[in-house]
Amino acid sequence: MALFNKKSKENTEVKVDERLQHIAFIMDGNGRWAKKRGMPREYGHTQGAKVFKEITEYCGDIGINTVTVYAFSTENWKRPKAEVDAIMKLFIDYIYEALNVMMKKDICIKFLGDKSPLPDKMKELMTEVEEGSKNNKKHLNIAINYGGKDEIVHAVNTAIAEGITEITEKDIEDRLYTKGQMMPDLIFRTAGEQRLSNFLMWQSAYSEFYFTDTLWPDLKPEHIDAAVENFYQRQRRYGGL
Ligand code: IPE
Ligand code: IPE
Ligand code: MG
Repeated sequence: MALFNKKSKENTEVKVDERLQHIAFIMDGNGRWAKKRGMPREYGHTQGAKVFKEITEYCGDIGINTVTVYAFSTENWKRPKAEVDAIMKLFIDYIYEALNVMMKKDICIKFLGDKSPLPDKMKELMTEVEEGSKNNKKHLNIAINYGGKDEIVHAVNTAIAEGITEITEKDIEDRLYTKGQMMPDLIFRTAGEQRLSNFLMWQSAYSEFYFTDTLWPDLKPEHIDAAVENFYQRQRRYGGL
């Protein structure tokens, strides 16, 4: 089965405009979802991966240009090795699936984060997917071994290595993993926690936040609709009046 292959006709109506172009998800609650069912945490990640496909497809269908998902943080290495290994295996399976689908959907896939400590096979797949899809118009960013602090430090060090002595905001922005992309309009976190957990620290400066108690593996298109509706009731001022 390939990514985004379930086209649900009733859900293809465009529901957003230029005000809501980029949604970023903190996909949280896989472990709790599995535990509630007396299952190992890994089962929650498997279910979470299926929901990732459904939700990213749905976001594309309603007209979202850029979707970013937080899949593995720089801090998630602290987890038991068996869980980390299971997550890495899921990534390898899903990245492989993504390869042929993103072309049909005109989606450019980009991995945000430091690839260096990832398994070699995974790095090769990631590069292949990024290269193959780079001219597509829509964006799917998958944050793996991603940390907001790490990203900013990396950007600053890159600028220093290039000989820049007085760093501007633009110098940093141009060296983030999200270079050239829109900032997230909406950051959506599942599973009740109301924190950023080192996600998109720079890019979220003026993002709107939406939290739900729903665990990621239970997330449905109607939860996205509720968040979209809520988003359109807000007024973004960016410090102005
Ligand atoms: C999110 O779900 C997935 C990753 C962080 C990889 P969790 O695994 O954090 O699930 P909970 O928060 O423990 O329920
Ligand atoms: C954030 O979730 C990271 C991802 C969703 C990949 P965590 O479960 O790691 O966050 P904390 O530990 O609850 O802050
Ligand atoms: Mg969690």
